[in-house]
Amino acid sequence: MELKTVEWKDNSVIMIDQTKLPNTLEYVTYTDYNQVAEAIRTLVVRGAPAIGVSGAFGLALSSLQSGATKKDELISYMENAKKILFETRPTAVNLVWGLNKIMDIANKANTVNEIRNNVVESAKKMAEDDIQINMSIGKHGSELISDNDTIMTHCNAGALATVGYGTALGVIRATKDSGKNIKVIATETRPIQQGSRLTAFELKHDGIDVSLIPDTAVGYTMANGLVDKIIVGADRILRTGHVYNKIGTYQVATMAKQHNIPFYVAAPLSTFDMKSNPEDVIIEQRDASEVTGIGDKKTAPDGINVINPAFDMTPPELISGIITENGIVKPPFQKSIKELFTPN
Ligand code: MRU
Repeated sequence: MELKTVEWKDNSVIMIDQTKLPNTLEYVTYTDYNQVAEAIRTLVVRGAPAIGVSGAFGLALSSLQSGATKKDELISYMENAKKILFETRPTAVNLVWGLNKIMDIANKANTVNEIRNNVVESAKKMAEDDIQINMSIGKHGSELISDNDTIMTHCNAGALATVGYGTALGVIRATKDSGKNIKVIATETRPIQQGSRLTAFELKHDGIDVSLIPDTAVGYTMANGLVDKIIVGADRILRTGHVYNKIGTYQVATMAKQHNIPFYVAAPLSTFDMKSNPEDVIIEQRDASEVTGIGDKKTAPDGINVINPAFDMTPPELISGIITENGIVKPPFQKSIKELFTPN
């Protein structure tokens, strides 16, 4: 059974509740954009492309919820919904990309009916495109992988972080489908164990050979020759090639450099932010309780200070290539990324 992370059905948004995985595969149904905003905030849905599409679906829902009869009224209702959806998570750029795309569609329509129809259809199309884009990323990326390679991945950049198929895990799926034999090492990925709860779940679900390691075993596995290549996803990529991804990615990349192991990033064009500079990017800070305990069990002294960032930045000099739906870009990234966005 293929996992579909987020879907539009009968004027409602259906999502896998990822907070319940891997123990329970449960779906939730939303008819109010505020519920979608809460789902993004609380990681019911997560992963940059998945929250981009969820934001778009949330905004499409808002157009149906509003009782507006005039275009201006509906646009202002949707602008307010956009703000609420936008404020849920600050780091992944796909969210603002999805929201802006839907607002543009709404602004271009002439009547309230046209707005409602066009934004729903566009959000649905965005979800369909996401799967196709991931399959293209997978196809390009699989050319980098040799038979019998062991690939390390960090966080979850799979079907569950997208609408389906995945970015980094899309490369792994496409490589397997091309007939090559591969193994995967997945880090458990703090905070909240996206790697063990989601990546390991997904790969096992698909019958891919996966071993789970603690984040602290990254150096050990590389130093002992257990890793041939690394592929991770991204939440935001700047025009300079600076990559923002789940906390710990920078450590994995640094360790890869130390051991001469190629380090690749897989992401759609919607993850590129061609305007911001590193100092503009907000790194989400998460609750201290994720570090001071495991489940209900307390593992740290009361009142301890905690630093718990959700993402870090990997500088371009640690990255061997970025795999996109339009091909693989290599260093120097300032030049190759610019070319990626320049029409022929
Ligand atoms: O906090 P999350 O779970 O939303 O973070 C997700 C990641 O960092 C993913 O690796 C990233 O979004 C790439 S998704 C294809």
